[in-house]
Amino acid sequence: MLVLTIESSCDETSAAVVRDGQQVLANIVASQVDVHARYGGVVPELASRKHMQAISVVIDEALEKAGVTLDDIEGIAVTRGPGLVGALLVGLATAKALAFARNIPLVGVHHMEGHILAPLLEQEVAFPYLALAVSGGHSHLYRVDGIGRYQILGRTLDDAAGEAFDKVAKLLGLGYPGGAVVDRLAAEGDPAAIDFPRPLLHKDNFDFSFSGIKTAMLYHVKAQSGPIQGQQLKDVAASFQQAVVEVLCKKTLRAARQFDLQRIVVAGGVACNKGLRRMMAEMAAEQGREVFFPSPALCQDNAAMLGVAGNAYLEQGLCADLDLNARVNWPL
Ligand code: KG4
Ligand code: ZN
Repeated sequence: MLVLTIESSCDETSAAVVRDGQQVLANIVASQVDVHARYGGVVPELASRKHMQAISVVIDEALEKAGVTLDDIEGIAVTRGPGLVGALLVGLATAKALAFARNIPLVGVHHMEGHILAPLLEQEVAFPYLALAVSGGHSHLYRVDGIGRYQILGRTLDDAAGEAFDKVAKLLGLGYPGGAVVDRLAAEGDPAAIDFPRPLLHKDNFDFSFSGIKTAMLYHVKAQSGPIQGQQLKDVAASFQQAVVEVLCKKTLRAARQFDLQRIVVAGGVACNKGLRRMMAEMAAEQGREVFFPSPALCQDNAAMLGVAGNAYLEQGLCADLDLNARVNWPL
């Protein structure tokens, strides 16, 4: 089945063409990062407007790159939520218009479902597996027993991991979004330079909390006589990253052991983080477990990741009606 997928939940407008829920023929992403950077975060109204300007262009580009036309498309999968309502509605309205005009079946997919199934587009990962989903809006641990069969094991109680990276980057004057910048600086810093807290590490559950690390960073920045620069900046970045990554890895591995899950998937924008990739791979190897990371293009927000679930639901005939609406807060 040839499926057109559309994602517009936050600040990336994306369209992809995916065959049989496995083969990505095209995955086009138009990022709005430059628009929002000067405001230090995503401005919802600007996001909606930019999505409206970009959506037809990225769909045309995806079809062209895939070497197909709308006549070849057999199903449409679109992010239904969670996300910014105005942003989601642009993708949904476009998907519904195409589905109606061309009489193509339509399905709405959960954004995080897209993230945690994304590795299946690149390699075989047998169910069940443990998925750590870490993005700008989520830090969740799921048990994944199959497509559509998810059990939430833990979640963040406050900031998401990506949100913590972005807020700390802002405190350090590194711009927005700063996760990747912190990652780059951390590579040349001493992770043991500052002992940031490891919240909830020893609690007997699989929840996360990152706001305490962010507050500790605020106090650290305030305690300095001037701006943090040079090697000191790299050491601060490395120490912060170490604290976040250690909590994520230790709790994930503990969950894998407790629920006896051999395979671990790490997904979402923060899964691009090199420190997280390294530590998770090392700890998983120590326990004899396998860990899978999607390639960076499939970690960050993109439409292709919707293709796995979208294809499965469309094949099962679980199609949406044209009154399909956005779900801003939508638990998975
Ligand atoms: O999944 P994603 O693209 O969008 C959401 O659904 O939120 O994740 C974006 C988040 C941002 O917070 C960004 O700073 C973070 O992922 N991120 C990183 C890295 N690359 C992106 N965080 C840490 N290290 C990175 N290399
Ligand atoms: Zn995302």
